[in-house]
Amino acid sequence: MRIGIYGGTFNPIHNTHIEIAKAALNQFNLDKVYFLVAGTPPHKDTAENIDDICRVEMVKLAIKDMNNFILDDREIYRSGKSYSYITLSELKEEHPDDDIFFIMGSDSLLNFSNWVKPEVISKCANILVAPRLGDDIETLKEKINEYNSTFDGNFTFIDYSANGIASSVIRERFYSEEAVRKDMSPNVVNYILEHNLYNPCTYSYDDILRLSEEMKKALKPGRYVHTLGVATTAYSLALKWNYPAYTAMVAGMLHDCAKCISDDERLTICKENNIPISEIEYKYPHLLHGKVGAYFCGSKYKVYDSQIAHAITYHTTGCPNMNLLDKIIFVADYIEPGRNKQPRLDILRTTAYTDLDECVYMILEDSVTYLNENPDMVDPTTIETFNYYKEHKKEKR
Ligand SMILES: [Fe+2]
Ligand SMILES: [Fe+2]
Repeated sequence: MRIGIYGGTFNPIHNTHIEIAKAALNQFNLDKVYFLVAGTPPHKDTAENIDDICRVEMVKLAIKDMNNFILDDREIYRSGKSYSYITLSELKEEHPDDDIFFIMGSDSLLNFSNWVKPEVISKCANILVAPRLGDDIETLKEKINEYNSTFDGNFTFIDYSANGIASSVIRERFYSEEAVRKDMSPNVVNYILEHNLYNPCTYSYDDILRLSEEMKKALKPGRYVHTLGVATTAYSLALKWNYPAYTAMVAGMLHDCAKCISDDERLTICKENNIPISEIEYKYPHLLHGKVGAYFCGSKYKVYDSQIAHAITYHTTGCPNMNLLDKIIFVADYIEPGRNKQPRLDILRTTAYTDLDECVYMILEDSVTYLNENPDMVDPTTIETFNYYKEHKKEKR
């Protein structure tokens, strides 16, 4: 067998990666190509704090329908730094009778002599080099000749004309220039949006401490304890469902920030800021605490983040087609450790970590049952959301 190994951070994976792998597969008659997702890469600065699991999930989505492409995530789970020579030695041992072809970008080639144990790598594998847009091919050829003699290796070009985009450009422009999304699998684009990756709004533990102090001042003691419960539950749900955990914690911290003000104040803020008020909200202005809370995020607490504002707006009613953060906050608000009156909390708390959509549905089901006993309090959004998820559940079956 002829096995290709394509190592990279894939942060994120895009069409050029796929084209390079296809070109290598065809030109070198490879039987399959493993996409080896790098763990903590010694050569690259991964300042963009993307969870390793998210990079793995994106690779899975991008190669899902491609028979000859396989995910290899061993480096993600290895402790310490991930060095290619270790992985390639392992692969050689696993496939003693097969030919191994290590695919690398030209940037890696130029730096190859600085890698740890390059001689081991070139002994284990033939090296296939994919040029990048704007490369000086003559310099690359010189390097290839040099390494072929220094490392007694077999370095070759992949005949592929690079014209795609770099991952760094996608990370930088994903939200500002939608055109960059054209170079990616739509499934990967959706994953990035759903999981809020590469969003320039990021948070640190200092933000959590600052907002916690603010909430302590703005909320009654019981509401503050509930808020801490929601923030920590949101944090752990975010870890489980691969969402940026501090972002979820900030949303949890702020979700009830407009709870401890008067109804008149809530109505005035909405009127002054053109926030629409529904009939039921006029009747029960406390229902406005989501919308006003979302407004307070930026105006009072300097958190300018549309995903957080959206999750806070809908944290009590939910809304059709909620995104991942919406679901996390909606669920965290209902199951946080201080809650004890709702029915079947035990099962909800478990389901939140096994099937988030199912948990959302169960909470809506319970809310609708409860509201049916108090019909004039029913917010139509809750009913609309319940019906949406009921349909969604049927489709899933
Ligand atoms: Fe609330
Ligand atoms: Fe709450």
